[in-house]
Amino acid sequence: MSLQPTAHRPAGSADDPAWFRYVLGQYPTGVCVITAQPEDGPPIGMVVGSFSSVSMHPPLVGFYPSVTSETWPHLQRAGNWCVNILAAHQSDVCRRIATAPLRQRFEGIAWRPAPSGAPIIEGAVAWIDCVPVAVHDAGDHKIALAQVQHLDTASTELPLLFFRSGYGSFSPLTLTAYDPEMRLTRPLRHFELIRSIAQELPDRGLRCLVTAPVNDSVVVIGQLDPPSAAAAAQPTTLVGQRLPFRPHGPSIFEAWAPDTEQEAWVARFAPDSQEAEIRALARIRQRGFSIGLGSEGHRRFAAALERLAAEPGTVPNEELDALVASLDYEPAELSDDVLAQARVISAPVFDSAGGPVLALTVFGFKAKPQVVRDAIAAVTGCADEATRTLGLAPRRD
Ligand SMILES: Cc1cc2nc3c(=O)[nH]c(=O)nc-3n(C[C@H](O)[C@H](O)[C@H](O)COP(=O)(O)O)c2cc1C
Repeated sequence: MSLQPTAHRPAGSADDPAWFRYVLGQYPTGVCVITAQPEDGPPIGMVVGSFSSVSMHPPLVGFYPSVTSETWPHLQRAGNWCVNILAAHQSDVCRRIATAPLRQRFEGIAWRPAPSGAPIIEGAVAWIDCVPVAVHDAGDHKIALAQVQHLDTASTELPLLFFRSGYGSFSPLTLTAYDPEMRLTRPLRHFELIRSIAQELPDRGLRCLVTAPVNDSVVVIGQLDPPSAAAAAQPTTLVGQRLPFRPHGPSIFEAWAPDTEQEAWVARFAPDSQEAEIRALARIRQRGFSIGLGSEGHRRFAAALERLAAEPGTVPNEELDALVASLDYEPAELSDDVLAQARVISAPVFDSAGGPVLALTVFGFKAKPQVVRDAIAAVTGCADEATRTLGLAPRRD
């Protein structure tokens, strides 16, 4: 099929249905199934391409059912609808629901009930559970409006598209990450602003990762390696890698959090380790840095990070979670013996709103206490200067 519209076709009239359909067919749509669970029988559904979001306050969606549709009166009688956005591989589901008799449309189709009881079709990209609120006349169609009650995404598949009477899928020219609160944009900008300051760390021979809290994870925003590591035959990077932010892992982003947030964090620990975590958070605040020791768990964690740096996705999230849970942080004493075991030191960078918004983490101390002491001085010094750059004086308890 050519994807170019026929160039030399004579322009038709708006009254010519074929011409109308041809021209309007140049506009692609997604494909939804509006489902309902009638009181007296199996679920029903209707395929529509005319679905769209309508209003945010209140949350309204809508679609245009044909006045000749036999399904529409049944949908109207049902008190709830669930809009199912079909995935690209679901054209067979679409065909079945568009063509089977009303009461047989869900035969062979796996579904589960939305909160309203209307079907969520297994494999749909997203579902929107809603209550009909208004129907307006619009020529040979109606405008049906519904208020959204619950909604969720259900898979990461691409949606099914309908274009010039055929089905297809989306091929991105650009794809923006879903980042409504600029949770990635802000840390990336912060890192850019403090990059030259943090550069002092690799210049001193330390390997450095810059991380930021993003949703429920910690994400590597930047990596600064000493020239020897950066010049490795096969350059690797952890930038973009999500690290678990979970109990028993590093707490640097919680140590300065408001009391209520810290309480919620501590409550996620097993009851018998909550006291220890409260002490660990106090140590981080008082010292101004977090210190992780080189246990066996840490060696395995470091090996997993090496694998991830070489090839993203090679360590499953669950394995990473378990490895983080086995790490050993914030010892009570910082004697030479303990410092010799230090594997990572992290220091917080605050923004003008009180952060911490970034952490500078250094590693590669070769089990030498004096190297660790120098690294602590260097990383906390850099973090304080970075904090001043982002607009706030260094902060200690
Ligand atoms: C991709 C696609 C999009 C459709 N979009 C609409 C639509 O927006 N409105 C509508 O009334 N029918 C639409 N239909 C047709 C209905 O799904 C259904 O086939 C039609 O209403 C006739 O069936 P019925 O009389 O059992 O309701 C669409 C069909 C397909 C395959």
